[in-house]
Amino acid sequence: MCGIVGYIGQRNATGVIISGLKRLEYRGYDSAGLALYSSRRQALVRVRAVGKIAGLVSRIETDLPDHADPDYTLGVGHTRWATHGAPTEANAHPHLSRNGEFAVVHNGIIENYAALKERLIRKGYIFTSETDTEVLAHLVEECYEGDLHCAVAAALEQVEGTYGIAVVGSRHQGLIIAARKGSPIAIGAGQSEAIVASDISAIIGYTKQVVFLNDEDIATITAETLDIASLKNVPVSRALTHIDSNLDQIEKGGFEHFMLKEIHEQPQALANAIRGRLLEKDGTTRLGGMQMTSAEIARISHISIAACGTSYYAGMVGKYLFEDLAGLPTDIEQAAEFRYRNPIIEPDTLMLAISQSGETADTIAAVREALRKGATVLGICNVVGSTIARDTGRGVYLHAGPEIGVASTKAFTAQVAVLAMLAIIFGRARRLSGSKGRELVRELTRAPAIVAAMLEEEGAIKVIAEKYARSEHMFYLGRGYMYPAALEGALKLKEISYIHAEGYHAAELKHGPIALLDEHVPVVVAVPDLPGKSKTISNMQECRARGSSVIAIATSGDDEAISSCNDVIRVPRCLEFLAPIPVVIAEQLLAYHIARFRGCPIDQPRNLAKSVTVE
Ligand code: M6R
Repeated sequence: MCGIVGYIGQRNATGVIISGLKRLEYRGYDSAGLALYSSRRQALVRVRAVGKIAGLVSRIETDLPDHADPDYTLGVGHTRWATHGAPTEANAHPHLSRNGEFAVVHNGIIENYAALKERLIRKGYIFTSETDTEVLAHLVEECYEGDLHCAVAAALEQVEGTYGIAVVGSRHQGLIIAARKGSPIAIGAGQSEAIVASDISAIIGYTKQVVFLNDEDIATITAETLDIASLKNVPVSRALTHIDSNLDQIEKGGFEHFMLKEIHEQPQALANAIRGRLLEKDGTTRLGGMQMTSAEIARISHISIAACGTSYYAGMVGKYLFEDLAGLPTDIEQAAEFRYRNPIIEPDTLMLAISQSGETADTIAAVREALRKGATVLGICNVVGSTIARDTGRGVYLHAGPEIGVASTKAFTAQVAVLAMLAIIFGRARRLSGSKGRELVRELTRAPAIVAAMLEEEGAIKVIAEKYARSEHMFYLGRGYMYPAALEGALKLKEISYIHAEGYHAAELKHGPIALLDEHVPVVVAVPDLPGKSKTISNMQECRARGSSVIAIATSGDDEAISSCNDVIRVPRCLEFLAPIPVVIAEQLLAYHIARFRGCPIDQPRNLAKSVTVE
């Protein structure tokens, strides 16, 4: 996710901003940049680079040889995790206004940027990037009448969406304006200096005294003073907080591991994945990146999905979604198999390539094979500008934010949400009624709250995890939508805890693997209150009869499965098409706490890489 650092004071701003940006590296980014006020030139100078901060530092050394001069005391910097437009130098922040007098760094999404951009272009503003942020820089110029605070406030009045921003102007060498709405901004108040950042890890090396902005606050920051007002320019006061935590705690947001942090980020990740995409009144969804007309959507008669690992299991959920909601025959295949199997691609086949990273070698090869055969391919990726996103040229981004833990968590739930939105679009073009569409869209709106309720079960899950942490083998069972959820649960457990775990269809167990069950092999059964539940309860009894302990994942308030299990994990009630989301989160937490009790290196499990770029 993007990061902001701004500095005003007595030190060399380049050094403070670069060290702050390095502190934000853990959040994930794909380009970086800074803008400094040069008193010698009496102008802003800007340097940006694609890739890591080290690359930005080399560019600064070449393009700005005097960067260490003591008169550089004001500037803003940014690490960008691409959302609008690929990770290129032109799209990297800071963005400058047309006259070069204002530099803006921004986290968040300007939802009405297209309309604002069109209006500004008509007024002669020239855009040099594909970003939503650039409109802000031009708006500040348009609104400027000598007072930078007023110009930023007037610009923000026109903006819909979320922002955390820092703005500097070449006629205001002693000033930074910062503002927030939905995207955090903290201001560190030091001795004759101030540091603005999206995350306190960039601040606490300089001062532990921090002020956090509230939504719709605008701060006017000098080296000596901090004034905060509302967007309507009514002064407000915000408390000074003393920060005690160390850097490591802060980067992980206070969580012990990135995996746990990312599990807890799922309400926000899902909110981001659905934001601006649900059309409740029409009972459908809108995914602009598909770039398909209604006629093209209606012509699709078959869907083919290729993916690996967790993304493959999300794709399996996709098969249920497309067949259930849209009546579209759907094949799902491991990408490694797809690429070599000479797949049949008809003109009315739509291929979906699902990949968090967008860099998985087998999935890339499957995409290229499908494109070679003339298929329409949509990429469903989290990382903007990744190879799959570029190769397909169309698709849907997850907007789940960077996933750092090797075990995929929030990407899975965002993938299911995106696949559900796609299935609703195809369903509405085929057999899904308006009223059913509205019911599904309303449920999607509830998804972040469902996930938040699920996370409240963590304490109970931890107790169960401790009980089973010494197991050496485990089974995960489910049927229907719970079948892929069972496979994903087993994958999560084995990769981070090193317990041998197998996911099976609940009914398939008795065709062989049941021979492995005894009192040393616990079985996790996904058995929410959905069609097929009573048959799954019979399968639970079969396991108990072989001596296995059964851990049921059951709907809150539904006690039917209780007498057939030893332990129960409660999941919030939700419609079947979204049920894999809370169930898999329960499994993520179970795997996490089991691995933690076993003392495993959760964020970097042995033998695994976050992105598998080899065959
Ligand atoms: O980046 P991708 O979604 O293409 O990655 C696919 C798999 O490598 C990935 O999901 C892997 O299985 C994870 N470690 C699972 O947690």
